[in-house]
Amino acid sequence: MTPQAVIFDLDGVVTDTAHLHFLAWRQIAREIDIDIDEQINEQLKGISRMDSLERILRYGGAEQRFSQHQKQILAERKNTLYVESLKQLNPDSVLPGIAALLAELHGANIPVGLASVSLNAPRILDALGLTHQFDYCADANLIKRSKPDPEIFLAACAGLGVQPENCIGIEDAQAGIAAINASGMLSVGIGLQLQDADLRLPSTASLSWPLLQTVKRN
Ligand code: G6P
Ligand code: MG
Repeated sequence: MTPQAVIFDLDGVVTDTAHLHFLAWRQIAREIDIDIDEQINEQLKGISRMDSLERILRYGGAEQRFSQHQKQILAERKNTLYVESLKQLNPDSVLPGIAALLAELHGANIPVGLASVSLNAPRILDALGLTHQFDYCADANLIKRSKPDPEIFLAACAGLGVQPENCIGIEDAQAGIAAINASGMLSVGIGLQLQDADLRLPSTASLSWPLLQTVKRN
């Protein structure tokens, strides 16, 4: 089957912002006496800002310590730190293989979509110089449920006018693979530890359009 569209996750697939999210959350967590490590961060991938805060609070046994208003302030402060760290992004921050794959997809006239629950996605694509490479970016402001819910991938398919069954989604998070699978799309996982992906690759450097055309449902 020739896929009708390819839909990308952003953080961890197009560029490596996962570590920047981690550094910002770690600072906020420290200020409220919670120590988080990279292992917890793994569980925050693909999870919205407020859901990430809730998970950190639960991990630290602090679910009851903060009012809704205080949680808003913590999440906003995390975002300020994160946005500050995004200033280091530039076109060289695009992960290996991604620019070449986007060029191959354009050459083959395959629509390209973005399915990121990050409210900073437009700003990040802009910093990477990739805004015009995406035919449709699902708007995270309109999404009610983070991954593993398929909502954002379904929104990207609808925006491109394609059927999920005929599309490929690329993800680096376990919650993201679950979201792609639940949408009915074929899933490509970046990371050999990811479970249930139709194809798993060690890194984005292995991605290519010929390879994506060989993906079959597991
Ligand atoms: C992506 C990342 C998550 C992050 C979420 C929201 O899904 O993988 O780690 O929490 O976006 O990002 P935002 O930029 O809106 O805080
Ligand atoms: Mg990701």
